[in-house]
Amino acid sequence: MGAPRFEVLIPHERIQQRVAELGRQIAQDYAGRSLVMVGVLKGSFMFLADLIRHIDLPLRIEFIGTKSYEGTTTTGQVQLTKDLDRPIQDEDVLLVEDIIDTGLTLNYLKHVLEQREPRSLKTVAFLDKPSRRRIEVQGDYVGFTIEDRFVIGYGLDYDQRYRNLKDLCVLLP
Ligand code: IMP
Repeated sequence: MGAPRFEVLIPHERIQQRVAELGRQIAQDYAGRSLVMVGVLKGSFMFLADLIRHIDLPLRIEFIGTKSYEGTTTTGQVQLTKDLDRPIQDEDVLLVEDIIDTGLTLNYLKHVLEQREPRSLKTVAFLDKPSRRRIEVQGDYVGFTIEDRFVIGYGLDYDQRYRNLKDLCVLLP
């Protein structure tokens, strides 16, 4: 087996430009407020780290972890693997996702977090793959909408690898 090959889908510079835009938009929309940004582990860590550097507001960071199971039925199941460290009641919460694919994770997490009674709850996703959606759910802020291709890099993995690539790439067969 030769070395894995991948091609660049979105180069680093374009990612940084778009992330800065998103950050400025969020900072504008939440002006005068403070934020709790909840990163969904592990895929969102790089996006979250870059994004917050463009949000000049008082904020705190939380992480939440999920795992999805594929059963014999068509609907996958999502489970928490790591919960928040602190309450979010009466806080303005922004959930930070790497990618919205089937939508199952985001839908599940929205329900989980709504039960904690935040003052508001919105979502920002680095990527959106709308053609794969199995459940009607949308990000409030989206970095890039992409076709149905499996992507790696900028925090996203294939079998826990390639998260450290600076560019968003497509793994070639
Ligand atoms: P969901 O299908 O919307 O619930 O997405 C669940 C998770 O699958 C995402 O948060 C990603 O971590 C992962 N995922 C979905 N599509 C891709 C991809 O193209 N590359 C890497 N991870 C992905």
